[in-house]
Amino acid sequence: MKKVLPLASAAASKSVTRRSLLQGASAATVVGLLAPNSLANSVQAAPNTHSAAAPADKSKSFPDKFLWGAATAAHQVEGNNINSDLWALEHIPESIFKEPSGDACDHYHLYPQDIPMLADLGFNTYRFSIEWARIEPDEGFFSNAELDHYRRMLATCHQHHLTTLLTYSHFSLPRWFAYKGGWQNPAAPDRFARYCERVTKHLGDLVDFASTFNEPDIPQLLNWIELPGTQGKSLIEMLQGGLLKARTQLNAPEFAGFFLGDGKKIRDGVLAAHTQGKAAMKSARSSMAVGFNLAMSDDQPAPTDSHVAEKRADVYGPWLEAAKTCDYLGVQTYSRAIVGKKDLPPPKGAELTQVGWEYYPECVEGVVRYAAKETGVPIYVTENGIATNDDARRIEYYHRALTGLKRAIDDGVDVRGYVTWSLLDNFEWMSGFEPKFGIVAVDRITQRRTIKPSATYLGNIARRNSM
Ligand code: NOJ
Repeated sequence: MKKVLPLASAAASKSVTRRSLLQGASAATVVGLLAPNSLANSVQAAPNTHSAAAPADKSKSFPDKFLWGAATAAHQVEGNNINSDLWALEHIPESIFKEPSGDACDHYHLYPQDIPMLADLGFNTYRFSIEWARIEPDEGFFSNAELDHYRRMLATCHQHHLTTLLTYSHFSLPRWFAYKGGWQNPAAPDRFARYCERVTKHLGDLVDFASTFNEPDIPQLLNWIELPGTQGKSLIEMLQGGLLKARTQLNAPEFAGFFLGDGKKIRDGVLAAHTQGKAAMKSARSSMAVGFNLAMSDDQPAPTDSHVAEKRADVYGPWLEAAKTCDYLGVQTYSRAIVGKKDLPPPKGAELTQVGWEYYPECVEGVVRYAAKETGVPIYVTENGIATNDDARRIEYYHRALTGLKRAIDDGVDVRGYVTWSLLDNFEWMSGFEPKFGIVAVDRITQRRTIKPSATYLGNIARRNSM
């Protein structure tokens, strides 16, 4: 029997007054829990222009029990992830990171207000990740205190009727693991499986959907992306240069991370780790649904010399096979890729998002159709969204993405949830804090949250379970 942990401090439980986040003045007080009163007036909840009470038009409804959520990842929101490989990489002199993650969104401490905020907006699901570097900061030492922290987060979700989607590994790694060659070390799958077993024994009873890996196909996918102006050098080749510098500057000759190293070797290591990790999770808790989350673009053939089939086989092939033995597959998509010999740059004149991706919300429809056909397992969209400062463009993006998704569902595609990236404006890896993917803005000095209109828009769709 698992012990039931106290959920939150007195201060935190004050912050969970239902509905308060959607009502201007009280939202200021509640969301600005840690902020001085003088700042309270600057917090705005979005006007609720889309009535949640409107009767649902059946033709616009999503399937019963559809999951509606928002996602985060530990390193991107928690702050002070000091035992991770990425923290080390962020602080070397010639870092490939634009800026360090620092306090990020201090979600590590502020989850007691962030999670109820998500529920109050109308969502029924929270997807987040646990941080291996906190749980096992030194090889073989597992911190019960950190595991209990994540237990409290999961319990807070349940207290607010949120289905929990928990990712065990979302890019960042314990520093010790990366110093020993990361996923390229033959011992990596055993190390990951040991972590999975320990975590599942501690947390499994509170996890509805567990994912071994977030976007395990990224190391291979990078081979298909060419940055403009790099004379044909792939992104991965550029990262390779960063890896060599990091090894010297960290005085860690074997150092390899999730982004940094040999794509094929990393893929093989991660694939084996997924298989062993999943087995460990299932043996610790057979009833827990286990899968993973794949990065996919809506791949479309270039008019000449298209290599779509080759790309799909290379990047997704082994993972789509693996998905067939999972309880579900999470798909994560942001745009399309027009595939020639490599992914081509977006068409001339196309609208681009803050991270340079083509504004193409219809990718969701293309990807779910493909993933469902290839795997036959239930599909959940576990990430989709857009980096923009223009929240009206985000709302339009959601509208078009969900219209396409609904079309696919009406055609019989088995999609059971839609989770947006991201709950909060957060640390976008090497690009730092500039890209704004969040439906909630974060003031990084005061840590005050501001709900954007897109959060209200999507939350109301979630509440109605209907467009
Ligand atoms: C996918 C990743 O899982 C997430 O960490 C990242 O921030 C978003 N895509 C946006 O790039």
